[in-house]
Amino acid sequence: MKRAEIILTDERKPQHLAIILDGNGRWAKKRNLPRLMGHRAGLRKLEDMVRLVKREGIRYFSVYAFSTENWNRPIMEVTGLMSLFRYYIRRKVDEIKAEGARIRFCGRKDRLPEDLLEQMKWAEDYTADQKILDFIICINYGGRAEILDAVNSLIQSGHQGQVTEEDLRKHFYLPDVPDPDLIIRTSGELRLSNFWLWESAYSEYYFTNIHWPDFNGDELRKALDDYAGRERRYGGLKK
Ligand code: IPE
Ligand code: IPE
Ligand code: MG
Repeated sequence: MKRAEIILTDERKPQHLAIILDGNGRWAKKRNLPRLMGHRAGLRKLEDMVRLVKREGIRYFSVYAFSTENWNRPIMEVTGLMSLFRYYIRRKVDEIKAEGARIRFCGRKDRLPEDLLEQMKWAEDYTADQKILDFIICINYGGRAEILDAVNSLIQSGHQGQVTEEDLRKHFYLPDVPDPDLIIRTSGELRLSNFWLWESAYSEYYFTNIHWPDFNGDELRKALDDYAGRERRYGGLKK
């Protein structure tokens, strides 16, 4: 059977696909372009991906777009990225909604510009009734920050007695979203960089050297085919 003809059964298909969008800077450098042009190309790529991911029947699609550590970059790059986020949200929400996707943002709300926060809220409300795909954009997200925020929120809720995993989970940013089944990282780096720390306990990983703006449907297919061949045991024994 040719690759394109393989139809993944539900068990062999991730319910939640997560991507660490890495390599925008290197993509730009290779072309002698400013780094922000790489970020622009990377954000553009997301529209196609939403379409492709939806076609695969994936229910949750999360992307790591800006980490709690990315504030350490030069101010020009940070403000440029914030402007691109603003532009992207304003211009692309209708297309994303037309795909049946609900936009959700995930991360700390502090430090983000007020008008960007307003736009994020607007995009979430505007797409809230869409049910085919949850498109989760992690901006100012850090796994450690999420765990700490959950602990503090749990304490504030007045919780008494021993804390269980379920208790803590209720205080995560998106408690209803299942853990990522597959995490793809582009551009050759073999690390998580503080993404989905708690949630990735049993995630499968897929790494590719392709820079994010060059990622495409064929690359996605490769990753999904690879995932389909994995055996997830969760500490148990072979089925
Ligand atoms: C990923 O691309 C996007 C963000 C972290 C905002 P990079 O900007 O990290 O690209 P490289 O790693 O420098 O190539
Ligand atoms: C991870 O990429 C964060 C995002 C993709 C948003 P980085 O490029 O910031 O990660 P490091 O610094 O190489 O670990
Ligand atoms: Mg990087």
